[in-house]
Amino acid sequence: MKTAGKVWYIESDKEPELNRQVIVLDAPYDSEPHLTKAAEVLKSAKLIPLAESRGLEEVLMLITGSLKSALQMINAGVLPLVVLGDDELHEQRDIPEQVFFFHSFEDSLLWAASHPDGWESLEGEINDGVKAIRGGGLTAFPTETVYGLGADALNAEAVRKIFIAKERPYQDPLISHVASIDQAADLVREIPETAKRLMDAFWPGPLTLVLPKHPRVPDIVSAGNPTVAVRMPHNRIARMLIERSGTPIAAPSANSFGKTSPTTAKHVIDQLKAKFDAIIDGGACRVGVESTVLSLVSQTPVLLRPGGVTIEEIEQIVGPIEIDSGKKHKHFDSPGMFPSHYAPNTPMIVVDDPQQYRHETHIAIMLFHPPRVVYAGTVFMLSQTGSDREAAAGLYRTMREIDEGEYRLIVAERLPQTGMGIAVNDRMGRASNT
Ligand code: TXA
Ligand code: MG
Repeated sequence: MKTAGKVWYIESDKEPELNRQVIVLDAPYDSEPHLTKAAEVLKSAKLIPLAESRGLEEVLMLITGSLKSALQMINAGVLPLVVLGDDELHEQRDIPEQVFFFHSFEDSLLWAASHPDGWESLEGEINDGVKAIRGGGLTAFPTETVYGLGADALNAEAVRKIFIAKERPYQDPLISHVASIDQAADLVREIPETAKRLMDAFWPGPLTLVLPKHPRVPDIVSAGNPTVAVRMPHNRIARMLIERSGTPIAAPSANSFGKTSPTTAKHVIDQLKAKFDAIIDGGACRVGVESTVLSLVSQTPVLLRPGGVTIEEIEQIVGPIEIDSGKKHKHFDSPGMFPSHYAPNTPMIVVDDPQQYRHETHIAIMLFHPPRVVYAGTVFMLSQTGSDREAAAGLYRTMREIDEGEYRLIVAERLPQTGMGIAVNDRMGRASNT
């Protein structure tokens, strides 16, 4: 390990052709504790014995906490791994797809260690994923919202495996993921004008549209409904998988039914173990909550599930929409609206004023900004700045982290009911069933 100004390099000497396998740690991670940790993780992965840097030929990856330096490195052909920052979680749509996000510095190091050839290693995973889909198997893959568990949407037997792996009831229909609008057009009877406008505005992205189903879509995908849900994900890896598989991919979130959705590949493995044929590790999901599900079957669009595209954003394009309260429509319309869903193992309540729990011990307090009083319990912050987008990106990860501790209760602070706060409140409400 060697320092060059503010930058430290860790170089591999494992094999000659791995000489370009270099990781640069950029500010603010050039401090001693982080580097010691870096060395430990890399050593334990047996990837890189700490060595004197010998003439760096090429930098393969950059791990950084700064979006700015990540953007600079893209042009230099370097794969930037960015740790989700507190103040730098920008609009997901503004961040180039080449940037890889991680929930923690350690996660980014583990990714680097398990992808010694950077993008090439990832290509290998994508191709294995394609093979599995084409062979009628299951591939877990990243999207910008949460990880999905995918199968060929036009192969009923392959889709059945999803329900079995997730222990998901067959009445709960799946979203078909596409890589182009043409591919979506093949799955539906028609694309109405409203849908076209929404696709133009938000695709690729976290908006799922429910439209009249084409007979070529197997009934198991739509749970026997005459409609089908379609979405074009923003995540580049997801779209590569769909394109190369040459078929739309039916995929729910890659978790056991009713449980917390995964935002990293490790979350998927922890929960589903080996119930899939391939997994692509694309780091952490940027949006962190599922897509917005909007039905375009009747005159006025109906919101079935709030998500990554906000109601305000949708209404700017199509005018006022109807919000499904879950009462009017039969529950199979969108079982993501089952009252209990997305649940951690620890009991959870959602409150407007968490301060009333300040004296309680052995509880986890989930806030969306820094604490204003001292809590006897343990505080988990979803955002340093009160940002609803940042809170969404860290919600499921934090719920899992809390589940690993020994808390008797999670007290979650409700967000203002606007923007992404609506989706976060919805998920917290279902997770707690309050
Ligand atoms: O962000 C997402 O949407 C993620 C990623 C993997 O794309 N997927 C996801 O899938 O959240 P899942 O299965 O966990 O949730 C799909 C939601 C459910 O609430 C389901 O009921 C609804 O979409 N849905 C699917 N097809 C439908 C249909 N034909 N009519 C009404 N709702 C439908
Ligand atoms: Mg789900």
